Order: sequence, then C-alpha cells, then structure tokens
Amino acid sequence: MAKIVRIGVLTGGGDCPGLNAVIRAVTKTAINEYGVKVVGFRDGFKGLVENDYIPLDLSSVSGIAHTGGTILGTTNRDNPFHFHTVIDGQDHYSDESARAIANMERLGLGGLVVIGGDGSLNIAYRFEQLGVSIVGVPKTIDNDLSATDVTFGFHTAVNTASEALDRLHTTAESHHRVMILEVMGRYAGWIALYAGISGGADVILIPEIPYKIESVVDKIMQRHKQDKKFSIIVVAEGATPKGGEMVVQKLVANSHDPVRLGGIGNKLAEQIEGLTGIETRVTVLGHLQRGGPPIPYDRILATRYGVAAAENLIEGHSGNMVSLQGNRITTVPLQDAISELRRVPIDSDMIRTGRSVGISFGD
Ligand code: F6P
Repeated sequence: MAKIVRIGVLTGGGDCPGLNAVIRAVTKTAINEYGVKVVGFRDGFKGLVENDYIPLDLSSVSGIAHTGGTILGTTNRDNPFHFHTVIDGQDHYSDESARAIANMERLGLGGLVVIGGDGSLNIAYRFEQLGVSIVGVPKTIDNDLSATDVTFGFHTAVNTASEALDRLHTTAESHHRVMILEVMGRYAGWIALYAGISGGADVILIPEIPYKIESVVDKIMQRHKQDKKFSIIVVAEGATPKGGEMVVQKLVANSHDPVRLGGIGNKLAEQIEGLTGIETRVTVLGHLQRGGPPIPYDRILATRYGVAAAENLIEGHSGNMVSLQGNRITTVPLQDAISELRRVPIDSDMIRTGRSVGISFGD
C-alpha cells in the first residue's frame, strides 16, 4: 500500500455539537502523529464534487473544540450519486461520483474521514465500494446509528432539552398548566426519553411506542386528583398515535431524507385542552438542540472519535466507522453502521426505569 501523505475530511447531514472537535482531532492527529497533511471539503459531499476545499493545519483548527457548528459547513441535501444542479432553469440530477473521486486523486488524497449520520455514511459506504479509502465518524443528535453505543452530540441535545424542562416545570406549576416540549427524533425517541427522565416528565411519547390520547389524558387527570395541577409532557417529533401517522411539516426537495417533521406538540395540545379543559401550552425546541457548544462529554467523545478515525484511515483500516462500545473506542464495518436505525428497545432498562418512577409512555 502506498504511503498516505494527505487525507480529506468532511461533515455531512444536519449539524451537531462536537463536529469541530472531531475536525480538530483528525487534523492534529494526522499532522502530529503521522506528518500527514489534511484538507477539509466545504459543505459536505458538495465540496467533494465541486472540488471546494480548504487546507487544514494546526492553526486553522486551533481553539475550536468548544464551539458548535462546523467550520467546514454542511448540507443534508447533496448526494454525489444523485447530484442536483439547475440547467436552464430546470432541475437536473446526475451521478457525479466519478468527478468526486477524480478530485480526490488530483489532490493526492489517500483517504477520507466522513463525519455524518445514516445518510452521509450510506454515501460514504458507496464510495468505499468504488475503492475509496473511508473511515466514518458517527454523528447525530438523534443517537439513532447502529453499531455504536452513542453518537457525539446526543448528550448535548439531551442537556439542552433537560434544561428547557427545568424552566417549563416552574412556569407549569405556577400556572397549573400542561406544558408540552416537542423535541427532535424522527424515528427514534432517545432525546425525548433521556431528557424526559432527567427533567421529571410525567408523560414521554416516542416513535417506538404508539400512544393513545386517552392514556395521556388519564395520567394528567390522575395527577389532578392527587392535587398535582400541572403536568409535563415530552414528545419526540416522530411520535405517532396508535394507528395514526407522523405529523409532517414539509418536504425538502433534493434531500436524501426529504421529510421534515414538526407539529405533533400542537396537535396534542389541542386534544388535551379539549378533553381535560386544562390550559395546555407547547414549546418546540427545534434547532436549539443542534446549535451551541458541546458539553464536555461530547467534546471528549468527539476528540476520541477524531483521533481514532485519523489513526485508522492512515494505518489502512478503511471501510470502518469508529464506535464506542462500553468505554472503549473501536471500529465496526461501515455496512453494520448503516444496516438499520438504532431505535429505543421498548423493553429496555431506560423504559422500565421511566415506568418505575411513574412516567406514562401513553400506551
Ligand atoms: O437528524 C437530526 C435531525 O435533527 C432530526 O431530528 C430532524 O428531524 C432533522 O435533523 C431536521 O433537519 P433540518 O432542520 O436540518 O432540515
């Protein structure tokens, strides 16, 4: 195998606290430990196709471990295998993977670190199948990637949601209201579950457990009878009523996952107010969960992932994703990471813990 002298790195999909800590760790490890140069592609795979990159050196990644967002930019729209352009005012889609690979060859890149969630890692896997050396880093606040115990960014999102619940709690109690907090989590309810347990929620609704509105109302009324005149509900954006559908806010053209959820909180509020007569208010936490500085746990995890990704790529262990198992950083085949989403097991210890402290899951 030819000695690697330069590698690339990119961030794909929705952003997430800790991306910069990974970029920094990849760059520092490559330069300090191996004397390997690094370039960063702008805006995910779009930069790879359009050869839009910046050289990364020790000074360009200095002082960014604690910052949110990504210094490289990102997008959850561009797929090199189905690349969108506008020609004469018309949408046009083409396979630009060969162009992306040619750009890598021209730059003399021995491999690529892809920091992404399921969408970006699927694309990474396709490139790996075409012979590109790739190591993936598991990123998403949703924590829904298989083959790792946890993705970086998740615990920061939980922290933000839990803090929001602390604030909602006091105002809910003062006004004797039902307060609903809608959090992210399309197909997996990890954020709702962890934040709800941490923040003392009375009801947690997640996509894995379809809910019955009657059960939610029962819980609220039971509390009322016990002189608890307020209730706190955490709902994941992808939660669905039994036999019902997710609430879709809009469809985003050109995205690998075009469905954007949102609105379940308002739908619930209307039903609860109608059925109980108790004033019910909604807070949609939205992108506050994705922005801002990572908490120390995520800075450390992101740094460990970044170091391991650079080591594995440069030492020739391509086709893998770095992964946390127990408290050990290891690697798993990329294919395992993307084979299925990691959803909350309904018989998990966390669900049992919630039930034991009296939380209703609406079932
Ligand atoms: O995958 C993370 C996530 O935050 C989802 O929970 C959410 O539905 C989605 O991204 C929203 O993406 P965006 O607002 O960037 O289009």
